[in-house]
Amino acid sequence: MRILGIETSCDDTGVAIYDDIDGLIFNKVINQSKIHSRYGGVVPELAARQHNKNITLLLQDALKKVRYNSKYNLDAIAYTAGPGLISSLIVGATIASSLAFSINVPIILVNHMEAHLLSYMLNRKSINFPKFPFLGLLVSGGHTQLIISENKGEYKILGNTLDDSVGDTIDKIAQLLGINYPGGKNLSELAKQGTSGKFVFPRPMIHHKGFNFSFSGLKTYVTRIIKKHNDYSLLFRADIAKEFEETIVDTLLIKCKKALKLKKIKRLIIAGGVSANHLLRYKFKKMMSTIQNHELFLADINFCTDNAAMIALTGMLRFKGGNFLEPKIVIKPSWII
Ligand code: KG4
Ligand code: ZN
Repeated sequence: MRILGIETSCDDTGVAIYDDIDGLIFNKVINQSKIHSRYGGVVPELAARQHNKNITLLLQDALKKVRYNSKYNLDAIAYTAGPGLISSLIVGATIASSLAFSINVPIILVNHMEAHLLSYMLNRKSINFPKFPFLGLLVSGGHTQLIISENKGEYKILGNTLDDSVGDTIDKIAQLLGINYPGGKNLSELAKQGTSGKFVFPRPMIHHKGFNFSFSGLKTYVTRIIKKHNDYSLLFRADIAKEFEETIVDTLLIKCKKALKLKKIKRLIIAGGVSANHLLRYKFKKMMSTIQNHELFLADINFCTDNAAMIALTGMLRFKGGNFLEPKIVIKPSWII
């Protein structure tokens, strides 16, 4: 069984093919960050135009892999139906439905955040869910959520950000430190040159009841310090980046530890672009290994940020569960996991 996956929720255009025996047989992403970096964030109109240009290039490439005697060996087309930017989602939805219609296969609507959550399966031999219940920490440019899953495909939101997402906060501080959008990876590189303890930032909401997050106060606090010092030296910027990265990771870690304990859960999946962060991966691995019988699931770093491999894989799981439709153009820009 083969599923073609299409990802166009934000500014990355992705196409992938997942085969239930051979695994991932095609996976390419065209990144648009150079185009958006001069504006300090994604410009929806430009993103949609680029998706239109890129998607046909990727599809032509992908379809070569599954074309035999003028027939395409595909069972269904999965695409990101939401959450995401309307103008970006519509490109993926339109092309997925048109292609499905023309080769007479169904479509599968995939939730982008569920796909992030399941992307750890991409580097495993068999695509199994963790034992239920499990906790999920979703950390991306648009989301900061703690969820619980007690059954396949069923998710309950335990905590959400009350304001900015963690990825957006990282990108804004990175920008103030002179790093181009999206700044997560390069901020982390800069932090490696910094010294711990030169600055101390508060860890937001760690003593609050419940599991919500808030990052706008931290963003304002760090912004004020950067502006007050008016220092553009590498050392200053690296010290700020170091403490900022540690603050973000500690905050997420404290919340997750509390949730695992209070909800008596032993398995944790961390997913989304921010889960590519080295410090986050190191600290969570360390924390989970010190608690008996606890298991951590992380995607391979290459699959943490937006890609279509996770869409094709999630599509495969949904298809096998009977979740597919006749081709039609459907988008759900605010689709909650
Ligand atoms: O999941 P993603 O690719 O796109 C969305 O669905 O939003 O996440 C993008 C976010 C950006 O904010 C980016 O700066 C952040 O993930 N990111 C990182 C790292 N790599 C990407 N943040 C921290 N450390 C990284 N290594
Ligand atoms: Zn994403």
